[in-house]
Amino acid sequence: MTQLILWAALGYLMGSIPFGMVLAKVMGLGNLRKIGSGNIGATNVLRTGNKTAAALTLIFDAAKGGVAVLLARALAGEDAAQIAALAALLGHCFPVWLGFKGGKGVATFLGIWLALDWRVGVACCLTWLVAAAIWRISSLAALAAAATSIIWALLLTGSQTLLLAGVLTLLVFWRHSANIARIKSGTEPKIGQS
Ligand code: G3P
Repeated sequence: MTQLILWAALGYLMGSIPFGMVLAKVMGLGNLRKIGSGNIGATNVLRTGNKTAAALTLIFDAAKGGVAVLLARALAGEDAAQIAALAALLGHCFPVWLGFKGGKGVATFLGIWLALDWRVGVACCLTWLVAAAIWRISSLAALAAAATSIIWALLLTGSQTLLLAGVLTLLVFWRHSANIARIKSGTEPKIGQS
């Protein structure tokens, strides 16, 4: 039990590193809170016009989730990996460093799945890519990837990760409440637009 609490704390701390904010600051791109959606993720970093910063944000935000899972699994087993996964996503969405006002979790969600089960991770990434190619809306692609992750998890891992998949998906949907409202009203911007 103590070990699981430790991995929850470590996962949270790793997930809470706001790479988008850090990169935007270091690369002189301004305050992400005042740009586009105000989000700290790669989609909003792309709205600064700097594709390198956006790609780095995507990679680092995914990596922090993936590394948390892989470390926990290697040192403490599968239960710790699942706890670290959830904690990392919570850390990204509610980082203590930003007054618990963090991101929407998509890149971290993808990194977590690539580490938990690479087949589910790849299926989610492909879902995001296909949905993005069709609709050109990042949040809608993210919602499609999150929703279908439950199906991919069930098909590829059986019931082993199903509960976690449900919780991660709910969290991603919750963090996209404002995006969902904009999608419904037809005002959600396309990828690259503010
Ligand atoms: O990765 C977050 C994305 O799904 C939505 O971002 O900035 O358009 O709200 P944004």
